[in-house]
Amino acid sequence: MKIILVVGARPNFMKIAPILEAIEHHNGKGRRPQIDPILLHTGQHYDQAMSQSFFEDLGIPRPDINLEVGSGGHAEQTGKVMMAFEPVLERERPDLVLVVGDVNSTMACTIAAKKLNIAVAHVEAGLRSGDMTMPEEINRKVTDAIADYLFTTDRIAGAHLEKEGVPNGRIFFVGNVMIDTLVKHRERAKQSTVLETLGLMNGEGLHPYAVVTLHRPSNVDDSETLGRICETLQEISLRLPVIFPCHPRTRARMDQFGLGGFFDGEKSRIRLISPLSYLDFLQLNSHASVILTDSGGIQEEATILGVPCLTLRENTERPITVSQGSNRLVGNTKETILKGFEWAMGPAARAVVRPEKWDGQAAERIVERLARIGRMGSAGFGEERPVESVTHSAVVLSGHVVKTSNELSSHESRKSNILSFPLRKN
Ligand code: UD1
Repeated sequence: MKIILVVGARPNFMKIAPILEAIEHHNGKGRRPQIDPILLHTGQHYDQAMSQSFFEDLGIPRPDINLEVGSGGHAEQTGKVMMAFEPVLERERPDLVLVVGDVNSTMACTIAAKKLNIAVAHVEAGLRSGDMTMPEEINRKVTDAIADYLFTTDRIAGAHLEKEGVPNGRIFFVGNVMIDTLVKHRERAKQSTVLETLGLMNGEGLHPYAVVTLHRPSNVDDSETLGRICETLQEISLRLPVIFPCHPRTRARMDQFGLGGFFDGEKSRIRLISPLSYLDFLQLNSHASVILTDSGGIQEEATILGVPCLTLRENTERPITVSQGSNRLVGNTKETILKGFEWAMGPAARAVVRPEKWDGQAAERIVERLARIGRMGSAGFGEERPVESVTHSAVVLSGHVVKTSNELSSHESRKSNILSFPLRKN
């Protein structure tokens, strides 16, 4: 069974690593069919900090194919990936293309493969923020609408897919591959010296600190918004030093908007640093007092690490991190972020919550299922019924109160572009 596994951008690497390992394990055990994996990097992210260091930290083999598309506008990047991927598909004629997450490469490779009638499996399917201004939401919806096999991280995602008309038998609730990687590397991350290097750990022990990451267009592309967030971070830094591993996109906007002043000078307690490698970042997050972020994956990692997480967005496609984990939506106003910060500094639960099947075994389940599909063809569908009970859909921020979509009035629902749907209990 020949499978092309696609990676493109930073959040893809930690998702593909455990799947490659599970394939190796499957083949090593002599299970049938043997799987021939081809690792393809689109080159959406390309530099050492955003790409190469993850291959090194996570032991991912060198990609068999690199499309080297690089940066560009959304249409340009998506188009370039499709154009470069099509001849690869024609040459290799794989049995299946496996894509992960919601980046431009995910959607582009799905479209190119399906147009050639090649089956596609999507890992991390069914996540929905309800926010069509997010480029990732468009990528998610397009990918899920045409992919054949949809692997989900929780039951809420399965319910979204069902509501959108995906037959239940194509949806497989397997758990969270990103958490597979976190579980596997947590011990190794303790050897990282990042805390000492940043002066957070010394003879006196660990000093409390906050971690910040930001890269979403809604937070960083507008000078007023980014300036307001920087001002808020400065206020937070009076209480706790702030470590800010800065995405290249955010760094470019700060330079463009002349915001460097917030981070210059000896008095600034905000440390703007380059993006960190996987292990350093895991170690940094594990010991943080609070994480402020607009990333999707970090909300999930914080849930497993038991670190209070303030998400600088109005909504999240990962509501389970709010309903079960330590994540709170705080938007991007000074008032709401500071309010969230006070919550996080209080007796906020730091207990580790483990959503169902976030147990380090998701990739094994995926490969097992793919092998079964390989053996049985489409007859392999429909053996699992993933949606049993759903208590809520996407979570949105409404008047500083976090609500699930089912708690919103229909007016609010329409405003926030989230539709409630009937709950189903088996
Ligand atoms: C992309 C994904 C986003 C993901 C994020 C993680 C989409 C639509 N967005 O956003 O979902 O959360 O990656 O990082 O696919 N750049 C570099 N070096 C690199 C890569 C990028 O300097 O290796 C710079 C370039 O200036 C580029 C900018 O970062 O223009 C943005 O990169 P891009 O891949 O377009 O989108 P991200 O904002 O990283």
